[in-house]
Amino acid sequence: MNKNLVFQQLFDSESSTFTYLLADSRTKEAVLIDTVLENLDRDLKLITELELHLKYVLDTHIHADHVTAAGQMRKRCGVLTAVPKKANVPCADLNLSEGDEIKFGEFVIKVLETPGHTDASLSFYCEDMLFSGDALLIRGTGRTDFQSGSSEELYKSITEKLFQLPAETRLYPAHDYKGFTSSSIGAEIKHNPRLGAGKSQQDFIKIMSELKLSYPKKINEALPANNACGSKDVKALDPRLKISTIENLKSRADDILIVDVRRPDEYVGEQGHIQGSRLVTLGEDLTRFLESYNRSEEIIFVCHSGTRSAEAAQLALQMGFEKVSFLDGGMLHWNKAHRPV
Ligand SMILES: [Fe+2]
Repeated sequence: MNKNLVFQQLFDSESSTFTYLLADSRTKEAVLIDTVLENLDRDLKLITELELHLKYVLDTHIHADHVTAAGQMRKRCGVLTAVPKKANVPCADLNLSEGDEIKFGEFVIKVLETPGHTDASLSFYCEDMLFSGDALLIRGTGRTDFQSGSSEELYKSITEKLFQLPAETRLYPAHDYKGFTSSSIGAEIKHNPRLGAGKSQQDFIKIMSELKLSYPKKINEALPANNACGSKDVKALDPRLKISTIENLKSRADDILIVDVRRPDEYVGEQGHIQGSRLVTLGEDLTRFLESYNRSEEIIFVCHSGTRSAEAAQLALQMGFEKVSFLDGGMLHWNKAHRPV
């Protein structure tokens, strides 16, 4: 490693998240990758102790299991926050995409787009180190079953992009649940049980579809907060709110009411709509509809990407409906999965 590079791996034991500190020891400019709000004071104290000047706070993706400290760090010390451009987070200072570079002192972090865990996930490459977020983990990978994730995409991102890096590249993921702290690209190509040792895309898709993971505990708090740069002021989604996946909608589409809350032009537009779904646009139309509808009926709300439908489901909960959910990733996800419209 270059002797002027300061590197430190920090850990959050509650969410098993790694935060990385990179800095130039001569210019003192520093970058943090994937911070955790609960560790805000710890991280800023460390920066002060090392006499560094924090310049950027980067997030590899919109995390579902913890709230980022990026927004609070910006408030406290004026850093620039950066998130994936495709995540559409208007409050971030920088919106990163493939080929972008983040410079600190004499060092450069190169941005790689590695979708699959989420459709906007990034990895960062700097001085023979890869910060892979939740794309490639040590002997594992990120999950692909929500936030518009896709096993097909993740397989491509890892095998066609990350596995093409030099074998000796050190791998530093955003999480580890088994006690590992780092690996190398070469070791993962050989030993990763999900897509190493020449596993095919079909093998990988099958493995991922059989994982049956429960949702992260903090998802209802983390997603809205992270979409607002980690602001504590945004209202968390109602904890009773349920998220439907394409899988559970597919098998039950005939016996549940699917309410599409987009505008009429979107409903008949390019994205199409789910067969049998009913158009009731968010706003007065939806309120009127829900007032007249049986509170014990089950409803799944759908929209373009999952934001308006979450709002609609929230409204229904407040009005006394109990069995409501919204489709994660909306029609974007539905069409990506090539479901019929
Ligand atoms: Fe994640």
